[in-house]
Amino acid sequence: MVTPRAVPTKTPTRGRRQGFPSLFRSSNGKKAVMAVTGAALVIFLILHMLGNLKIFLGGDSFNDYAEWLRTVGEPAVPRRTVLTITEIVLFAAVVLHIWSAVSLARRAAQARPVKYAAKRKSQAGGYATHIMRYGGITIFLFVIWHLLDMTFGAVNPKGYDATAFDRMVAGFQPSRWWVTAFYVLAMAMIGLHLRHGLWSAFQTLGLTNGRRRHTLQAAAAVFSVVLVIGFLAAPVAIMIGAIK
Ligand code: HEM
Repeated sequence: MVTPRAVPTKTPTRGRRQGFPSLFRSSNGKKAVMAVTGAALVIFLILHMLGNLKIFLGGDSFNDYAEWLRTVGEPAVPRRTVLTITEIVLFAAVVLHIWSAVSLARRAAQARPVKYAAKRKSQAGGYATHIMRYGGITIFLFVIWHLLDMTFGAVNPKGYDATAFDRMVAGFQPSRWWVTAFYVLAMAMIGLHLRHGLWSAFQTLGLTNGRRRHTLQAAAAVFSVVLVIGFLAAPVAIMIGAIK
């Protein structure tokens, strides 16, 4: 006679995560987190790009803008309050954006019982996954370098005590061409990341049926290209000596 073996009981995931809001558990909830945080980051990128373009109005204009970022809200709130709140929101948005991306990717891999037998080069999903994954990692590394360079001055020839304008000009000198090259690579990744991210968001919102498909595809591409050009304008102008 075969004695039935006791089946080890597994604590159900749901039970373990009691109290974890359902928004953060379901795939749709995670997609919503990704879309909302993505939208916040896009708004930041647009404002940051426009702010950077102020450098073409001269050093004083750029430094005034950098100072305004620190004093906005005064005297109602102390110096740097609004900036610090913005930094916290940005940081939370980045963490939640990465978390939802990783956890959706894991869920998709678990749902696929057998790995694809052969990888097709033309597979759109494969291209998008690579761009989002490795592009995302490049952007993450870029932001770390960028903060050490432009905000803390740790890797910038002018250091922390210089003005924002001086740090910019010193940072993109021709002798530091490799820094500009890294920025170009990172901005290209941002452009590709954004194009795909916007397109995915349009699809999730069900906007991509019929004739609108091509228009939205083009809109995502044009927006990404304009943002990349806007960001690269200042470093390139400094590199070629148009801004000194
Ligand atoms: C060529 C492209 C870029 C240039 C020239 C640039 C330039 C700058 C400068 C000069 C600052 C310091 C501003 C200040 O001290 O007031 C800064 C801060 C910052 N940048 Fe950029 N930036 C670029 C692209 C980006 C991108 C693509 C991201 C994000 C993915 C980014 C994220 C940040 C963040 C998080 C800060 C710190 C804001 C703060 O809390 O003070 N930047 N950037």
